[in-house]
Amino acid sequence: MVKTRLTSSAEEAAEFIKSGRLVAFPTETVYGLGADVFNEKAIANIFKAKQRPSDNPLIAHISDLRQLKLLAKSITPAAEKLIDKFFPGPLTVVLPKAEEVPLIATAGLDTIGVRMPRHQLAQDFLRFCHTPVVAPSANLSGKPSPTDWKAVYEDLNGKIDCILLGEVTEIGLESTVVDCTLETPVILRPGAISLEELRKIFPEIRLFSVNLKEPVRSPGLKHKHYSPQAMVILINSTQEIEDSEDSRAFIGLSEPKGKFDLIKLCNSVDEYAREVFMFFRECDRKKINKIYCETVEEKGIGLALMDRLKRASVK
Ligand code: TXA
Ligand code: MG
Repeated sequence: MVKTRLTSSAEEAAEFIKSGRLVAFPTETVYGLGADVFNEKAIANIFKAKQRPSDNPLIAHISDLRQLKLLAKSITPAAEKLIDKFFPGPLTVVLPKAEEVPLIATAGLDTIGVRMPRHQLAQDFLRFCHTPVVAPSANLSGKPSPTDWKAVYEDLNGKIDCILLGEVTEIGLESTVVDCTLETPVILRPGAISLEELRKIFPEIRLFSVNLKEPVRSPGLKHKHYSPQAMVILINSTQEIEDSEDSRAFIGLSEPKGKFDLIKLCNSVDEYAREVFMFFRECDRKKINKIYCETVEEKGIGLALMDRLKRASVK
């Protein structure tokens, strides 16, 4: 057990990174669990604290574009366009890795994911660190990503050195990950930067699908993700909900009929995306058996939300 320090000071939190320790910090997407990208021992501790499979690479976070050259061997033309348009923001570009980046950070890959958060406290923290910070989501592997610091505390108190306290995250789903090492970039994970927005720059861009007969380019995709303990059931209409004695919950946009122990009615798909992981955790705390999730149209952030819901529903 380590003593986990809770602080609101970006400067204090950065001191932990500089001394090779682990800090959870807020971003606009979800909370991340950070370590110095050049400190192999600290990175090994990230994998240990999260119980993360060692074949799942980490995203490096930067506060300044000049840090890109510490991480990437080259900035491909595709990445240049995306960085220009979407940095800082909820987008990760995958680039050829620089020699100096330890392989443990990228799980042995010769590429590295890089992102510049637009969240003010995250930017302050990263600036004080004076080094890029690798950070997966700050949850135990397999659990829903943390969208508030209490979720981080629930999973990692006593396992990490510091939590930088921020607000509930604005987006609630992880960044869009785009592989920019190919001539036409490919979306490895949908997120708040939508397929439609990306198509305006790359009309040919497509979503990587594990059904396609090609090797998995993003190892994280094959791992089980985002799952509450409860069974997650996707429904296209609230009419599909059957009567049952189970303790159950509902999240969606339209009011369900019948008895529920917990209901989260969202006013928009944005709100649904922001709330879903926190709702899953609340359901687990209340020992709910079944969570009914209303499906949404797969456009805008709806594509990312449906991606996470589908993954959560696979048992
Ligand atoms: O919004 C986010 O991206 C958050 C915040 C903290 O920045 N981070 C996050 O990290 O979601 P994580 O580790 O939970 O998810 C990273 C995803 C995984 O699916 C991983 O496989 C993929 O990005 N990834 C990372 N580096 C990659 C690489 N070099 N090539 C392909 N995929 C990569
Ligand atoms: Mg994660």
